[in-house]
Amino acid sequence: MAMKRIPIALCLVVAACGGEDSEPVAWKDMSFEQRYAYMEEVVTPQMSETFAAFDPKFEGMSCPTCHGAGATDGSYAMPSAEVPPLPDTPDAFLEYAMDPEVGRWADWMYNTVVPQMADLLQVERFDPTTETGEFSCNNCHTLTSVTP
Ligand code: HEC
Ligand code: HEC
Repeated sequence: MAMKRIPIALCLVVAACGGEDSEPVAWKDMSFEQRYAYMEEVVTPQMSETFAAFDPKFEGMSCPTCHGAGATDGSYAMPSAEVPPLPDTPDAFLEYAMDPEVGRWADWMYNTVVPQMADLLQVERFDPTTETGEFSCNNCHTLTSVTP
């Protein structure tokens, strides 16, 4: 009996390793190296197009636009301290977004950047009306507490 289990275990190991032509790996299951490659080959080209359509200053943008120093030290940790922090309470956020320029950015982030990035990472975006999903502003932005 024990002998018969060995080939099965081997199959599982081989399947887990994945061949050259295996199914595409979901973001959540990717190794760091696979994430790096996916960011470089898929996420950055698509997101720079989206960002540049909003503001030409993003033309040719790359890893540091989202990752800040994490792109230099190689950690790629998110959220990034160099992406402008957002207020951490709904009231403080509403006040912050009263500024028309901030509001314009926040609307675009909410309606375009969050859904597109969530799709690229195959995760559900956070929906404040149903309080479901996970991907949101704070996957890229740190939150800062604002004293009233
Ligand atoms: C538009 C914003 C954006 C750009 C541009 C971007 N990234 Fe990312 N990256 C993210 C986000 C958001 C995450 C975290 C996803 C999550 O929450 O799991 C991430 C995660 C990663 C991770 C995984 C980190 C970990 O700990 O698992 C790596 C590696 C990475 N990025 C590399 C890169 C590289 C290399 C580039 C440039 C070629 C790049 N990224 C460009 C937004 C970006
Ligand atoms: C994929 C990463 C990502 C997500 C998700 C994201 N943002 Fe951003 N956001 C950025 C980056 C990068 C910048 C800064 C671009 C730059 O360098 O000017 C930015 C800039 C902004 C700015 C402009 C701030 C300033 O001072 O110029 C606002 C406002 C903003 N984001 C709000 C939001 C809100 C609200 C959400 C959620 C609904 C959100 N963002 C989600 C990456 C993200």
